[in-house]
Amino acid sequence: MTIKNVMVIGAGQMGGGIAQVCAQAGYSVTLNDLSQDFLERGMTAIGKNLSRSVEKGRMSEEEKEACLARISRSTDIQDAAHADLIIEAAVENMTVKTEIFKKLDQAAPAHAILASNTSSLPITEIAAATKRPEKVIGMHFMNPVPVMKLVEIIRGLATADEVYQAVEEMTRRLNKAPVEVNDFPGFVSNRILMPMINEAVYTLFEGVATKEAIDDVMKMGMNHPMGPLELADFIGLDTCLYIMEILHEGFGDSKYRPCPLLRKYVKAGWLGKKTGRGFYEYN
Ligand code: NAI
Repeated sequence: MTIKNVMVIGAGQMGGGIAQVCAQAGYSVTLNDLSQDFLERGMTAIGKNLSRSVEKGRMSEEEKEACLARISRSTDIQDAAHADLIIEAAVENMTVKTEIFKKLDQAAPAHAILASNTSSLPITEIAAATKRPEKVIGMHFMNPVPVMKLVEIIRGLATADEVYQAVEEMTRRLNKAPVEVNDFPGFVSNRILMPMINEAVYTLFEGVATKEAIDDVMKMGMNHPMGPLELADFIGLDTCLYIMEILHEGFGDSKYRPCPLLRKYVKAGWLGKKTGRGFYEYN
């Protein structure tokens, strides 16, 4: 299974980062989103990231240009016809993801691997929407993608060993560290992280302390680089809420009940850094 051409679905904060690291590792990348505007936003973010690397002396201007030239834009999912690996990083919503995987299954060549960057949705269920469940796998990058080392690789019930091996090898080529996990709600990362974030929101909701105090306790007391509320803003409060709902539904345990305050913020459109306001305000 040779991977040369990679397609990334969704040019948001995760998809953009994934496209960037694939292009940096020499893959030919097609970045797909619903509109040219979304693609433009994604490409601008990639350009800014790469320029920062040039300023810091980590890459030359020529390398940056070569990297950008390896990324082509697409608003047509039929462009999957040229891909060996497709990494889906659209919104965290099962209906949206299964729709995309059905279309990819029809458009992509028979040998192509279909991966999802989902934070919590069952890979086995996404795979069942296709006629190639053995070629469907979870490839869960961490945010920000260019910085974070880990990729959680999730085996669905039917994922073939050779597909797992190919994805693990590719992850190493991206200079990332693969960790194998099985397909259960939230996998490992978000099963542990999200209940902590949700508990921080409850702590704020119940008036135990201010948001700054909650974040300070976790930063200075537990040596976390970011406080949980800051981190929630960075991840996106909509994504945090989706993941808590998946854990709550998947395990049927009230300990995963999303905090009403988290729900309220999402309803208000306060989604965190990406909308300029979450627990904190951003310019
Ligand atoms: P985002 O909201 O920044 O980007 C999502 C992008 O997908 C948008 O540009 C949107 O236009 C596009 N999109 C939606 N439907 C589409 C479709 N049918 N076809 C093509 N593009 C479509 O979201 P973000 O944060 O990048 O999350 C994407 C995925 O990555 C989610 O599944 C999320 O759970 C997962 N993830 C998020 C992390 C985070 O820290 N935000 C960390 C790890 C995984």
